Amino acid sequence: MERFDHVIDGQVRPSADGRTFESVNPHTREPWAEVALGGRAEVEAAVEAASRAFHQGSWPRMTTGERRQILYRLADLMLEHRQELARRDTMDMGKPISRLLNGEVAGAASNFRLAADEADLDHAEVYPKDADHHIYTQYDPAGVVAAVAPWNFALTMGSWKVAAPLAWGNTVVLKPAEQSPGSATLMAELALEAGMPPGVFNVVHGFGPGSAGGFLVEHPEVARITFTGSSEVGAAISKVAADRLVPVTLECGGKGANLVFADADLDVAVPSSVRSIYSNSGQVCLVTSRVYVQRPIFDEFVARFVEQAEALRLGDPMDPATDLGPIVSQEQYDKVCGYLDSIPEDGGKILTGGRAGDGWYVRPTVAIGLPPAARACREEIFGPVVCVAPFDTEDEGVNLANDSDYGLTATLYTQDLRRAHQVAERLRAGTVWVNTWGVRERKAPFGGYKLSGVGREGGHFHRDFFTEPKAIVMRY
Ligand code: NAI
Ligand code: MG
Repeated sequence: MERFDHVIDGQVRPSADGRTFESVNPHTREPWAEVALGGRAEVEAAVEAASRAFHQGSWPRMTTGERRQILYRLADLMLEHRQELARRDTMDMGKPISRLLNGEVAGAASNFRLAADEADLDHAEVYPKDADHHIYTQYDPAGVVAAVAPWNFALTMGSWKVAAPLAWGNTVVLKPAEQSPGSATLMAELALEAGMPPGVFNVVHGFGPGSAGGFLVEHPEVARITFTGSSEVGAAISKVAADRLVPVTLECGGKGANLVFADADLDVAVPSSVRSIYSNSGQVCLVTSRVYVQRPIFDEFVARFVEQAEALRLGDPMDPATDLGPIVSQEQYDKVCGYLDSIPEDGGKILTGGRAGDGWYVRPTVAIGLPPAARACREEIFGPVVCVAPFDTEDEGVNLANDSDYGLTATLYTQDLRRAHQVAERLRAGTVWVNTWGVRERKAPFGGYKLSGVGREGGHFHRDFFTEPKAIVMRY
């Protein structure tokens, strides 16, 4: 068994009471690591350390250029440790290691560089019109930031949640998901090695309510909360934060729609649509789990989609040839299976896929014939399950796509420029992809409409959230 501890005030340490929990490798379904279980005492210590580092330490008072040097060094160290970071995410949550080594680790490292550049290159407004006064804006760091991360992109989201607040001079306490504690622990250790002062970046492990997550978001010293996870927990955190008027950004679930018009290039649309539901075994908030295909090409699209879905390889996520690893946990596996069972109950038909029959594996699943009110069409499944349905007119397609409690992403495939622009404008989602999926510009706004969240992340949206903009009015 390997062992992951908290990183508090520059020390890697267990819980005061010695309590631990286990991280289970979803491929073997055996525990592979013992993790320190944080409670009130550890959250207290971490927030206190972060508060001290903020009010008395050097970090918020460094120039953005000085912080940039440390954040760049951290990015370099992450690349040096890419094998170990990748291995920990794969062992913790079952993602194919090839995905981590061929993109995610590098992306996580670059989150620190990008945030550092963003802060360093940013400039504040000067208001020139007044003859008697010099008036300008200063972006002060907000204070101690609580970051609560999910397991589906442990390293990517862990780095994304902490990079911007750190770059803007805040101090951070990160509560990684209980399913994926490994990579965050190493990232915080590497931050110390990179020269980040103790207390600036702390990690406390544990669960949600009544555990590290719950105690962290309730802590009175916390100035900002940034959360990625389910809409239910997002709403619960929002309520806690409201009592103290603490701003939150919530990046919650999705039920992405994918409109494939009859004029789409199917050589692009089919593989892209397949990728956009089965990546990470569908455990992605951005997936397009509802596909609407214009009637003239419905049969051909479905036939090609099924063929490509069936060609994907399920298996050991440590094997570089694996496309789909297991579902992260028994709880999530049971949830996905519940939706598989709901499909025939709600009048649909599974063309391919279902339980793989061994462990927490689910084959790439395609369902048709479901009414729009079916559970599998409305609720976030977070598994490799897609509902495909036909539509006739552009209006009908847009209405189907927008008929959701969520609004994180939407995708459309067409070769008609007029349609691409007009439909993109009408789709009620935080990101719209046209003839592609999954491409992220990290300076662009990232977030969702409706139950998909509150606020936007990325670029200057990060600055606006993680700082207190201050107007300074000075008489000549
Ligand atoms: P969750 O929302 O319960 O957990 C996310 C994070 O929040 C974890 O770190 C957890 O420990 C923490 N947490 C939970 N309750 C908390 C509380 N009251 N206060 C503070 N922190 C708390 O998500 P879970 O249980 O892992 O997955 C449930 C569903 O949520 C999934 O099936 C999926 O539909 C959705 N989800 C969406 C994600 C996204 O990327 N938007 C990521 C993970 C899950
Ligand atoms: Mg939960």
